Amino acid sequence: MQDSSEHPASPLESKISASTDNANAEIKTHNKVRVWDLGVRIFHWSLAFGFLSNFFLTEEGSDIHEYLGYTLVALIAWRILWGLIGPNPYARFANFVPSPKGLLAYLKAAQAGQPPRYLSHNPAGAVMMLTLMALIVALGVSGWMMTEIDALWGEDWIEEVHEFLANAVMLLVPLHILGAVIESRRHRENLVFSMIQGDKRAQD
Ligand code: HEM
Ligand code: HEM
Repeated sequence: MQDSSEHPASPLESKISASTDNANAEIKTHNKVRVWDLGVRIFHWSLAFGFLSNFFLTEEGSDIHEYLGYTLVALIAWRILWGLIGPNPYARFANFVPSPKGLLAYLKAAQAGQPPRYLSHNPAGAVMMLTLMALIVALGVSGWMMTEIDALWGEDWIEEVHEFLANAVMLLVPLHILGAVIESRRHRENLVFSMIQGDKRAQD
C-alpha cells in the first residue's frame, strides 16, 4: 500500500488534493447564493423609481407621464416572461407563487412568530409582488383607455379608476417595504441590500 505521507504525491494524488481544495473553496463561497440576477434587480429599481416618478413628479397626462406609464407595463411584461422561461430558478413563478393553502400556512406561522425563511420570495411577498404588478398594469390600461378610446374621452369614472389604482399602489408600497424590513430583522439579513447586490445567505 502506498502512503502518500511518505512518498512524493503522484500526479493523480495532487489532482485529487487540488480538487478537494477547490471543493472546500466552493463550500466557502457557496454560503452566498445569487438569487436576484441583474435583470431582476434592474427591473425592480426601474419599476420602483418609475412608479414614484409618475406619481409625484411628471405632469398628469403629459407625454412623459404616458410614455413612462407604458414603459412600466413593458418592464412587467419582461418580468412575466422572465418568471416563466427565464434561466434563474429563484425568479421563476413556479418556484415561489404559493397555493392558497401554502399562503395560509405561511401567514399562520408568521402570526405564531415562526415564519420559515425563503431564498426566493416568501409566500406573502410573492402575493404582494403580483398585486403590485397587476395594479400597475391596470394603471397602464386605464391610462390607455382614458386617452385612446374616444367614447371615454372626458368620462369621470375612468379618471377615477386611474386615480384609485395609483393610490392603491401608493398605499401598498409602504406595506411592501415594511414587510421586507420585518422579514430582514427576523432572519438577520438585509433583503433590501440583496435586491441591490443580488446575493442572499445560503439556507442554514
Ligand atoms: C403606470 C403608471 C402610472 C401612474 C403611477 C400614474 C399615475 C397618475 C396619477 C397619480 C394621476 C393623477 C390622478 C388625479 O389625482 O387626478 C394620473 C393622471 C393621469 N394619467 Fe396616469 N399614471 C400612470 C400611467 C398612465 C398612462 C399609461 C397614461 C396614458 C397613456 C396615463 C394618463 C393619465 C392622464 C391623461 C391623467 C390625467 C387624468 C385627469 O385628467 O384627471 N397615466 N396618473
Ligand atoms: C415604489 C414602488 C415599488 C414597487 C412597485 C415594488 C415592487 C416589487 C416587486 C414587483 C418585487 C418582486 C421583484 C421580482 O421578483 O422581480 C419586489 C421585491 C422587493 N422589493 Fe420592491 N417595490 C417598490 C419599492 C421598493 C422599495 C422602496 C424597497 C426598499 C426600500 C423595496 C424592497 C424590495 C425587496 C427587499 C424585495 C425582495 C423581497 C424578497 O427578498 O423576497 N421595494 N418589489
